[in-house]
Amino acid sequence: MCGIVGYVGPQSALDVVTAGLKRLEYRGYDSAGVAVQADGQLATAKKAGKLVNLEKELADRPLPAGTTGIGHTRWATHGGPTDANAHPHIDNAGRVAVVHNGIIENFAALREELTERGHELGSETDTEVVAHLLAEEFSGCADLAEAMRLVCRRLEGAFTLVAVHADEPDVVVGARRNSPLVVGVGEGEAFLASDVAAFIAHTREAVELGQDQVVELRRDRVTVTDFDGGTADVRAYHVDWDASAAEKGGYDYFMLKEIAEQPKAVADTLLGRIDAAGSLTLDEVRIPANVLREVDKIVIVACGTAFHAGLIAKYAIEHWTRVPCEVELASEFRYRDPILDQQTLVVAISQSGETMDTLMALRHAREQGAKVLAICNTNGSTIPRESDAVLYTHAGPEVAVASTKAFLTQLVACYLVALYLGQVRGTKWADEIRAVVRDLSSVSGAVERVLETMEPVRELARSLAEKNTVLFLGRHVGYPVALEGALKLKELAYMHAEGFAAGELKHGPIALVEDDMPVVVVVPSPRGRSVLHDKIVSNIQEIRARGARTIVIAEEGDEAVVPYADHLIRIPATPTLLQPLVATVPLQVFACELATARGNEVDQPRNLAKSVTVE
Ligand code: M6R
Repeated sequence: MCGIVGYVGPQSALDVVTAGLKRLEYRGYDSAGVAVQADGQLATAKKAGKLVNLEKELADRPLPAGTTGIGHTRWATHGGPTDANAHPHIDNAGRVAVVHNGIIENFAALREELTERGHELGSETDTEVVAHLLAEEFSGCADLAEAMRLVCRRLEGAFTLVAVHADEPDVVVGARRNSPLVVGVGEGEAFLASDVAAFIAHTREAVELGQDQVVELRRDRVTVTDFDGGTADVRAYHVDWDASAAEKGGYDYFMLKEIAEQPKAVADTLLGRIDAAGSLTLDEVRIPANVLREVDKIVIVACGTAFHAGLIAKYAIEHWTRVPCEVELASEFRYRDPILDQQTLVVAISQSGETMDTLMALRHAREQGAKVLAICNTNGSTIPRESDAVLYTHAGPEVAVASTKAFLTQLVACYLVALYLGQVRGTKWADEIRAVVRDLSSVSGAVERVLETMEPVRELARSLAEKNTVLFLGRHVGYPVALEGALKLKELAYMHAEGFAAGELKHGPIALVEDDMPVVVVVPSPRGRSVLHDKIVSNIQEIRARGARTIVIAEEGDEAVVPYADHLIRIPATPTLLQPLVATVPLQVFACELATARGNEVDQPRNLAKSVTVE
């Protein structure tokens, strides 16, 4: 939520910052703004709405040239999406400018205090107080980094702050508590951003900031301290993808590109994790085998799409390890006083590694003595940093707000964790593990085949553009797939969409079924647990008898569904537990096409942000 960029170096700060904001717009698009240091002054521009509005403003009213600057793209929390509430915020003398991601919880008290001292605040935001406090502190110490440390010690809540001061040329200062902030180190230039994507076109050398740290950027050095001014530990790393990975690459939308990247992403998640003998080598899982053998309960915490990956993982984990597994929405977890101890393994799943609800859940789990394993896509993000171990998904940057390749790779990572636990605990024989690993290795090709046959799905989606409601049904691992299909449709097409366990239908939801209402049914394989298959075929008949228009996703060769499918979407035959990896793909394409047909913004759906860094 909210994207932040800061730059100091020889280039035009405005160019670097606005290009960075473009890459971060997925984090929020309620307003955008920039501030540039030039000739001992600060010049700012900000506009409600998308970045394009700011760009128009800058074309009409150019800012003076400068080589130090900051920028912000906003997802509104305190105060509506107006010009006045857009960042940067400045003090009354216009000498300091600040951008912020997060929520300053004690801002009301600070605002009152500042008003009593004669400050005039013009926005409804929690951020503006920081500009005024920085101005006050700077007048005492004439050092922006020191002023930032003094201010941060007074703030409560979650915040990433980046500031510039007119009287401190060629300096950008940032601070971080609970929200993401990464440093990019170039030749004679330095960057600050919420995500490396903002500066990847300039440098792939990054420094990960820790909790409660202040960073001062100059052209030739980066200095990091804690909030008290003491030396701070930081981790430098090399970003293993380049600028092209964060571009659309010829696709109309990032979402389409990311859907198409799934075969490679799935293969990359497996890469280097299977040895020549077919056993799993998860060296990154630093939790010792003897600790994993003692685990008597697994709890998965996650939000949104990642939560759906967790729901599917439960089936695999319990089946392969016989360890009880709970899956909980991270936002609910710590508030219900969950039962956790040293024998609990908590698995936190998060694409961004910054989701505040998931972060708070894992912190709670660790406080109770549980071990936490993160499944994450973003190197250097907070969730893996604060976990005992991490399994990276290696999906590459996911820019579209709607999660696609992150979901599939989270699933693959979950299967790997489940198998690894089975291997370590001896609940799976080596040859059984090899067989599943073989199946997993063939999924990339199966996803490729699904993608090649999507034209009828797109056509069907377009024909349903005027509908109001779509229901999704599934059983077993197909149930979370139904939930994921419904979530994709809600967030992209803004339609009423609900996922149900097909067996639950008769207990209420079937009352929703009306004549010609589209109902998508995810059918399990007729092989293996055929009882599941037969039951869902009955469910299809029940809804069809009540007028539903059935859209059936079924395995190639499953002839039993043919008489009851108004529309049939074929997927390659896959073992039951792995079926979500192929069955989800048509639902992603379906939602994307429906959104397009309804004229919606695919990559930036209304009211949403990619990375939810507030609770
Ligand atoms: O970054 P995370 O995986 O922690 O994000 C969790 C959810 O916010 C995310 O999956 C969200 O539900 C997606 N936008 C759905 O497509």
